[in-house]
Amino acid sequence: MEQILALFAIFLAFAFSGKCSDVFSRSDYPEGFVFGAGTSAYQWEGAAAEDGRKPSLWDTLCHSRDQGNGDIACDGYHKYKDDVKLMVDTNLDAFRFSISWSRLIPNGRGPVNQKGLQFYKNLIQELVSHGIEPHVTLYHYDHPQSLEDEYGGWLNHRMIKDFTTYADVCFREFGNHVKLWTTINEANIFSIGGYNDGDTPPGRCSKPSKNCSSGNSSIEPYIVGHNLLLAHASVSRRYKQKYKDKQGGSIGFSLFILGLIPTTSSKDDATATQRAQDFYVGWFLRPLLFGDYPDTMKRTIGSRLPVFSEKESEQVKGSCDFVGVIHYHAASVTNIKSKPSLSGNPDFYSYMGVSFHYFGKSLDFQYANTPWAMEVVLEYIKQSYGNPPVYILESGTPMKQDSQLKQKDIPRVEYLHAYIGGVLKSIRNGSDTRGYFVWSFIDLYELLGGYEVGFGLYTVNFSDPHRKRSPKLSAYWYSDFLKGESAFLDSQGIKELQSKYSSSF
Ligand code: BGC
Repeated sequence: MEQILALFAIFLAFAFSGKCSDVFSRSDYPEGFVFGAGTSAYQWEGAAAEDGRKPSLWDTLCHSRDQGNGDIACDGYHKYKDDVKLMVDTNLDAFRFSISWSRLIPNGRGPVNQKGLQFYKNLIQELVSHGIEPHVTLYHYDHPQSLEDEYGGWLNHRMIKDFTTYADVCFREFGNHVKLWTTINEANIFSIGGYNDGDTPPGRCSKPSKNCSSGNSSIEPYIVGHNLLLAHASVSRRYKQKYKDKQGGSIGFSLFILGLIPTTSSKDDATATQRAQDFYVGWFLRPLLFGDYPDTMKRTIGSRLPVFSEKESEQVKGSCDFVGVIHYHAASVTNIKSKPSLSGNPDFYSYMGVSFHYFGKSLDFQYANTPWAMEVVLEYIKQSYGNPPVYILESGTPMKQDSQLKQKDIPRVEYLHAYIGGVLKSIRNGSDTRGYFVWSFIDLYELLGGYEVGFGLYTVNFSDPHRKRSPKLSAYWYSDFLKGESAFLDSQGIKELQSKYSSSF
């Protein structure tokens, strides 16, 4: 409760002090702080049916719905060398990407696909030889469809063994060059989106308002979440037993985290905000850091929430070396008075018992520029979980595609400037944040927006068979910042940035 009020204070302090206008440069960040940008396999690689790759959950979902697909995407599979050149132009320290399990081990287990293996070796070699650190995510919504068909994927405990074997191949083959590994991309959104709402792979739910062919929104998200935690712990154990001494890397787990503040100063809204954090974040972070689910979840979900055995709890606790934060925007939280009936068919939101009011999304899909939310998130992790090391693995704003976007990219520049500044403030307040990755390096296939919206520093012409890339204003801004230029963005600064690069568009 006191902690929630302290987070509210960050919001108020920011609201009354105006925008983040401090002058800062990259030399203000601690030594070793990593600046990067990211993509994920299905959204970037394309070559979906090439060189032995087989379908994953994403291929299946996208092909069953009318929302575009990643068959070709940015064609990163063929154009990775061009992209590494752009990363060099952007002065990135690191590139975050994911490995496609169904490209590396097309049937989920069994033989390794040599061409898939070679692709990732080539990509990593290209990065390393250009001085760019690879940061690898092992799982970004995309296990091989065959495992879903055979035994139900993450609903089945068998995934833990198969995921560990797949991860072992990655550590063995790529671990000499990869020092930062994330096991699961935003486990909370994967469980909620895929098994409560049915909007993301594998598209399961039992909500009457959705068109899912199967699923159970009251139970499945928690079974999946439990298996993800056990799989992460198993992979982390494997790394420590077999690879850590030789390779010296770290293993993290990532979560989508909203900047949440209570809607009013009432006790009910403060408690509701704490409950929302417990459901969204504590669901995974409490087991990872303290060995068990939050009491609020245990009380509300009752026997539908799986239970850790003593041994499992010991294995999960302490199994992550860092917390990967995926943070985009903010909401205020209002308590909902009615209690969910456990005998009915409650879903994640009715268990949680709050309503969210998102801070304005504009018509062009952009997220509101609320950098205090970044500070709220980092302060919450610091205070509630004992200040673990954090990497911001995704942060950025979408904008509707438009042929003029390259030069009209000012909102993205403002957003990145403000959020990167917010991270610096949090570090100065004691947060152990060690890196920041812009989402995304280039425009990608977006699951919920197809090719209509782009988060990229670079545009991609998706109608061009060569998928030509071009820098947006934000790519120039980020590159200048990473070169050491001061990041001060008043209206004069924006004008100077535009005129400096006007001849490039
Ligand atoms: C996902 C990305 C996605 C991004 C923007 C994140 O939560 O990890 O795959 O592109 O959101 O929607």
